[in-house]
Amino acid sequence: MEAVPVKAVPVTIVPRRFGETSRRDAWWVEPLLVFLVFGSFVVYATWAAFQNAHYTYGPYLSPFYSPELWGSSHHAVFGPRPDWWPAFVPFSPALLILPFPGLFRFTCYYYRGAYYKAFWADPVSCSVGEPRGPRYRGERSFPLVLQNVHRYFAYIALIFIVILTYDVWLALWWDNPTTGQQQFGIGLGTLLLAVNVVLLACYALGCHSLRHLFGGRFDEVSKTSVSQACYNCSSALNGRHQFFAYVSLFSVAFSDIYVRLCSMGIWSDVRVL
Ligand code: FES
Repeated sequence: MEAVPVKAVPVTIVPRRFGETSRRDAWWVEPLLVFLVFGSFVVYATWAAFQNAHYTYGPYLSPFYSPELWGSSHHAVFGPRPDWWPAFVPFSPALLILPFPGLFRFTCYYYRGAYYKAFWADPVSCSVGEPRGPRYRGERSFPLVLQNVHRYFAYIALIFIVILTYDVWLALWWDNPTTGQQQFGIGLGTLLLAVNVVLLACYALGCHSLRHLFGGRFDEVSKTSVSQACYNCSSALNGRHQFFAYVSLFSVAFSDIYVRLCSMGIWSDVRVL
């Protein structure tokens, strides 16, 4: 059969001004929602991190403050605020550790795609004019090229998952004022912290970088059955990465709110067992 010659159709690319588009759908709704949700979370988390108060209740420790390296609660690993801490720098146990999970989320592939649209406005959305000129090279140049540190924060995130799991274990042991001993018990807070760590694990273990770490072998999937099983599990979680990115964001914030309001006496913790 004779090949039909393909005719090239000349296309002229017309540069658009920022925000200019011929799209008629409500393309701006999603970036606006992302802006409101992420913005609210960042404002709340920053406020909560600076409080240095009401982050424990009974055996519960807010995930924003875990691990509590130095601090005033019985969860503190190394005791109270160290003497070498400069007096003019605000102290809070959360400020020492929150940059790690914070930067893990900040450099996450999903979050990048979302907040580039909602906060950075580049790209605003498909087929919508962008604010920066042709010299803008995205993640191939400074500062966005720094996002490639994501894999290292992913490794650190795994350590946080282990620590938060241990916190759930600690949240099962209550002081008995009568005997002075610790006794097993489950409160609503225990369940919340447990659900939170499961959701955080589902989010972290579905990370692109960890998926390659689990199953990668140079440029192909490892042949060992354990690696392949891990790779498949991580791939399954990765398929719901956006979902877990959101629900774990809500659960970690709500866990802090729950512990905080119980500690302030505004909410009463319900003992299940
Ligand atoms: Fe989202 Fe790594 S890609 S956490």
